[in-house]
Amino acid sequence: MKPVLRLDTVCKRFGGVIAADNTSFSVLPGEIHGLIGPNGAGKSTLMNLISGIYTCDHGNIYFNEQDITQMPPYERARLGIGRTFQTPRFLQRSNIRDNLLLGTDLSNRFGYTSAFFGKKGDDFESELNKLMQYAGFSFDWDDDISGIPFGQRKLLEIVRSMLAHPKVILVDEPAAGLNNSEVDNVMKLLTVAAKERGIGILLIEHAMDLVMNFCEQIVVINFGKVIASGNPEEVSSNQDVIEAYLGRQRNAQN
Ligand SMILES: Nc1ncnc2c1ncn2[C@@H]1O[C@H](COP(=O)(O)OP(=O)(O)OP(=O)(O)O)[C@@H](O)[C@H]1O
Ligand SMILES: [Mg+2]
Repeated sequence: MKPVLRLDTVCKRFGGVIAADNTSFSVLPGEIHGLIGPNGAGKSTLMNLISGIYTCDHGNIYFNEQDITQMPPYERARLGIGRTFQTPRFLQRSNIRDNLLLGTDLSNRFGYTSAFFGKKGDDFESELNKLMQYAGFSFDWDDDISGIPFGQRKLLEIVRSMLAHPKVILVDEPAAGLNNSEVDNVMKLLTVAAKERGIGILLIEHAMDLVMNFCEQIVVINFGKVIASGNPEEVSSNQDVIEAYLGRQRNAQN
């Protein structure tokens, strides 16, 4: 199967910090692919490079084998690269309607303008209702986004990314700060995205139980470098991975 996303020897440096050091890996359609590593390893940097917020110093990024290395972020989003952020990002002082519909404009299927004038279409409503069942809560269109609790905002961000009909979603620490039932709902949404919609998911997550239970493939980075990749069993028994994580615990104790 052709990868939906492929990184080939990607490098990114910030002054003296090498945040991505010859990084290569691929994500397949319908696959939940973990991206793990200690704090500061360079995980979010890779997502910023893939979505085009940062530019690569070296190397190439391919979407469905099309070279997108030089493409601006909005074109990558339009091609089908969705994302969520470590801290959810919404239009502040706006209601849920505006925040969710802005995401759908990318797909050109419903369009913000037509949606704004009440021509959302039945398929939008039914898709949203379906996704909100997995998200596990409901809302009023006119509710202000700032009144929505943190966990629900994180779930809404995943829903918003799915409404744009992406081919791949980059999900940065979706479970951080969430209670158990919210985490279950995050994983339900991501599983539906991957297994029912065929979307490739690149998942950054510190909660190892989630990574080991839900990811088919995992790439592990430390100091910007890939130190291991493979399925959960291969990665969890890899000596370099064990040392990277034990080292972190040892440092935390000092
Ligand atoms: N815009 C930037 N300017 C300067 N340094 C940066 C920038 N973005 C990231 N870095 C540095 O690059 C390294 C990797 O950071 P990154 O945020 O990608 O790590 P991370 O793996 O996502 O960590 P965490 O698990 O804590 O979220 C860090 O040393 C960070 O300080
Ligand atoms: Mg990060």
